[in-house]
Amino acid sequence: MSALRLHLLSVHFLCCVFASSFITRNPLVFGLADCRPDQIQALPQFKNEFESGGCNLSDYFHGVMCDNTTGAITKLHLPNGCLTGTIKANSVLFELRHLSHLNLSHNNLTSSSLPSGFSNLNRLEVLSLSSNGFQGQVPSSFSNLTKLTQFDLSHNELTGDFQLVQNLTKLSMLDLSYNHFSGTIPSSLLLTLPLLSHLDLRGNYLTGSIQVPSSSSRLEHLFLGHNHFDGRILEPISKLTTLKELVLSFINVSYPIDLRLFSSLKSLLNLELSGNILSAASLISGSDVPPNLYRLMMKGCSINEFPKFLKTLQKLERLDLSDNQIKGKVPEWLWSLPRLSIVSLNNNSFNGSAETLHNSSVTMLDLSLNAFTGSLPSPPLSIRLFLASRNSFTGDIPLSTCSRSYLDALDLSYNNFSGSVPQCLSKFKILNLRKNNLHGSIPNTFSSNSLLQTLDLGYNQISGQLPSSLVNCSSLRFLSVEHNNMKDLFPFWLKVLPDLQVLTLGSNTFYGPISPPQGPLGFPELRILDLSDNKFTGSLSPDYFVNWSTASSSNKIYGDGQMYMGDYTNDLYSYFYALDLQYKGLNMANEMVNSFYSAIDLSANNLGGQIPESIGLLTALIALNLSNNSFTGHIPMSFANVTELESLDLSQNKLSGEIPQELGALSFLAYINISHNQLKGVIPKGTQISGQPESSFEGNAGLCGLPLQESCSDTSVSPTQWEKQEEDEEVLNWRGVAIGYWPGLLFGLAIGLLYTSRSG
Ligand SMILES: *[C@@H]1O[C@H](CO)[C@@H](O)[C@H](O)[C@H]1NC(C)=O
Ligand SMILES: *[C@@H]1O[C@H](CO)[C@@H](O)[C@H](O)[C@H]1NC(C)=O
Ligand SMILES: *[C@@H]1O[C@H](CO)[C@@H](O)[C@H](O)[C@H]1NC(C)=O
Ligand SMILES: *[C@@H]1O[C@H](CO)[C@@H](O)[C@H](O)[C@H]1NC(C)=O
Ligand SMILES: *[C@@H]1O[C@H](CO)[C@@H](O)[C@H](O)[C@H]1NC(C)=O
Ligand SMILES: *[C@@H]1O[C@H](CO)[C@@H](O)[C@H](O)[C@H]1NC(C)=O
Ligand SMILES: *[C@@H]1O[C@H](CO)[C@@H](O)[C@H](O)[C@H]1NC(C)=O
Ligand SMILES: *[C@@H]1O[C@H](CO)[C@@H](O)[C@H](O)[C@H]1NC(C)=O
Ligand SMILES: *[C@@H]1O[C@H](CO)[C@@H](O)[C@H](O)[C@H]1NC(C)=O
Ligand SMILES: *[C@@H]1O[C@H](CO)[C@@H](O)[C@H](O)[C@H]1NC(C)=O
Ligand SMILES: *[C@@H]1O[C@H](CO)[C@@H](O)[C@H](O)[C@H]1NC(C)=O
Ligand SMILES: *[C@@H]1O[C@H](CO)[C@@H](O)[C@H](O)[C@H]1NC(C)=O
Repeated sequence: MSALRLHLLSVHFLCCVFASSFITRNPLVFGLADCRPDQIQALPQFKNEFESGGCNLSDYFHGVMCDNTTGAITKLHLPNGCLTGTIKANSVLFELRHLSHLNLSHNNLTSSSLPSGFSNLNRLEVLSLSSNGFQGQVPSSFSNLTKLTQFDLSHNELTGDFQLVQNLTKLSMLDLSYNHFSGTIPSSLLLTLPLLSHLDLRGNYLTGSIQVPSSSSRLEHLFLGHNHFDGRILEPISKLTTLKELVLSFINVSYPIDLRLFSSLKSLLNLELSGNILSAASLISGSDVPPNLYRLMMKGCSINEFPKFLKTLQKLERLDLSDNQIKGKVPEWLWSLPRLSIVSLNNNSFNGSAETLHNSSVTMLDLSLNAFTGSLPSPPLSIRLFLASRNSFTGDIPLSTCSRSYLDALDLSYNNFSGSVPQCLSKFKILNLRKNNLHGSIPNTFSSNSLLQTLDLGYNQISGQLPSSLVNCSSLRFLSVEHNNMKDLFPFWLKVLPDLQVLTLGSNTFYGPISPPQGPLGFPELRILDLSDNKFTGSLSPDYFVNWSTASSSNKIYGDGQMYMGDYTNDLYSYFYALDLQYKGLNMANEMVNSFYSAIDLSANNLGGQIPESIGLLTALIALNLSNNSFTGHIPMSFANVTELESLDLSQNKLSGEIPQELGALSFLAYINISHNQLKGVIPKGTQISGQPESSFEGNAGLCGLPLQESCSDTSVSPTQWEKQEEDEEVLNWRGVAIGYWPGLLFGLAIGLLYTSRSG
């Protein structure tokens, strides 16, 4: 469950054959100059049919091209969010009859069906309407777009069958993926579309089988994954000898897939079979698999024995065997495959050590979540990313990890390494050594060209101080040394790091003040600060929380835009912060953190004085824990402005006075604990507050009202208020669902989705 994920992306030359390049010259200079005035007028008219507030008109005209003899618009390329609303049946778009290329993908043409007006544009050769939210069936009139060569309707909500595409006989590329199409693939599809080279039907509800003509086909890229095929689909596919790329992940056939069926596919380079059961016999036999495979994905195929046929794949570069149940040693021959480069063995039961790894050509390797023991194998010279977390490796972290020039991400967390922290900390971008047995101090060797972004040394036996050379790590975003034996003052000097987002020093022996002599704390990007369980003393200045820009601006992205903190995603890997979160009174170990999460934990120190009024500036703060300190004075009224707050723990302090009634208005506040203070008066009547357990308020001699038994003598609750509260209760439950749902997604389910979305 490493938060560092390896992508086994598709080969670029395979995936990008159809990438659009029709706007090759600058249309502002050449294209529009060729346009007839009446044609140009149609453009703002079309744009005005939509709400397009955020649209940049100059971008809009970027995608227009006209024929240099007739002056008619021939190419219109308006993807990426300019158009919101529905396309009208009589849209001016359908009068641009000379259009040959039209790309309206990634707009927001939600809840509308596809207008049949598109069929007027019967000179279209390229039509992309992907990622728009179109619903309903494809109108039958689309079948007279007979000049189409590229047709992309992917990522919409289209239903029904797609028999009509059979009349689009010039198609070379057809992408209907990720819709709700059902039924069977038209039986003569490949016969009537002889030029078809790229067919993507992934993510629909297709059943049945596929029929393959006896005449030769040109199909090179076939994507059928995530459907419900129940017929014999593999035999027909085995006749498509021109295939280079075949994606059959999660096709949910009821019988095991026999790989030997694909032996006729001599040109096959990329094969994805993840999420299917493979026949045991085919995994053992050697010579009958496509010999030229470059990339092979067999994630979650219930494989329990190492597939011996891999030995024959001398061209194999990318291999995913994660989420299987393979036991025993990794065969030595694997590491001698001459081109092997990116390998994931994550989440199996491999054991033993992997000595011969050293001589392989591997650049990215994921051995996490296995049963490896002994010392860490020496990685090959070519290694760039090495993940071996959650095994039982022991001994020192080998010096060889320091001498690998390209190694920039190393995750050895959750093992039993002992010895000291390696000296070469500066060379990594990401270094995760959490939950081991490392001793000694952190080497003071960070150089000024350090690229370090993430350093997690939490849960070890590290002693000493934070090394002053950390100021050289100007890219540092995440620093965790929690649960060690460090003894130092608060590192005010780290505020020079412009990107530091997460600082966790919890459960050490840090001491002294955490408030600078004057002014705010002033870490510009900080969103998570955990100083809990140390020996910090002193009070917080009133302006302590001024200038925490990030925690005071909410950038919630819900739904598909789910983002995690630390999201350094590139083509090859992604990294997400994993933190132990204290949240709503629960401890959640090593979870991924949503990008809008913002938390401060100063609990279990010796802090005193008043809670700074400037807390009200942290409007995006989600969790605040100041418990087990000696804070005095009132609970600041400004909490009313911390509107995203979901978890508030002020228990075990010396707070006095009344609880500000404004707290009752915090609608997301699902957990509150203010027990064991000296508070008095009426507990605010908020929807969230009355739902809390009594224990959240106990130990305050003078409090009354729900949820406590003590009623407040002078504020009797009238029946209408009761009714009101019941209504509110429903709201509370609804929020409860929302709150229960999101963290579930953030912290649990999403983990399975981290492998690149391109697979399957
Ligand atoms: C349409 O535009 C999108 C976004 O620029 C691009 O990714 C896609 O390849 C284009 N489609 C076609 C068929 O050109
Ligand atoms: C619109 O886009 C152009 C080019 O992409 C850019 O130069 C210009 O500043 C943008 N205008 C606005 C208002 O964003
Ligand atoms: C029109 O465009 C074509 C190709 O785009 C070019 O070959 C031709 O010279 C152009 N004609 C004029 C008059 O610009
Ligand atoms: C899409 O349109 C809907 C309704 O018009 C709007 O609520 C939503 O914010 C839009 N989404 C984007 C990404 O523009
Ligand atoms: C397109 O198809 C519709 C209905 O299928 C038909 O009425 C119309 O005449 C056709 N248009 C052209 C230009 O072929
Ligand atoms: C396809 O074309 C044939 C004749 O070319 C016609 O008879 C048939 O109705 C068309 N199919 C569809 C779905 O439009
Ligand atoms: C897979 O197929 C079985 C029947 O063979 C069906 O019961 C099950 O729902 C399918 N699973 C999915 C995820 O579609
Ligand atoms: C490990 O793989 C099994 C299937 O073999 C799967 O059920 C489980 O969820 C995986 N665990 C993780 C942490 O991915
Ligand atoms: C590795 O696992 C296999 C099968 O589970 C077992 O027989 C063997 O003893 C294990 N070897 C080591 C070194 O743990
Ligand atoms: C690596 O290869 C070299 C020479 O090819 C050989 O001498 C050495 O024993 C190999 N090391 C391992 C661990 O296999
Ligand atoms: C880790 O190693 C230490 C010795 O270094 C040993 O005492 C301890 O039992 C090991 N822990 C585990 C979980 O293997
Ligand atoms: C909350 O914020 C508003 C606007 O920034 C400010 O006017 C108000 O005084 C704040 N309320 C409290 C109680 O701090």
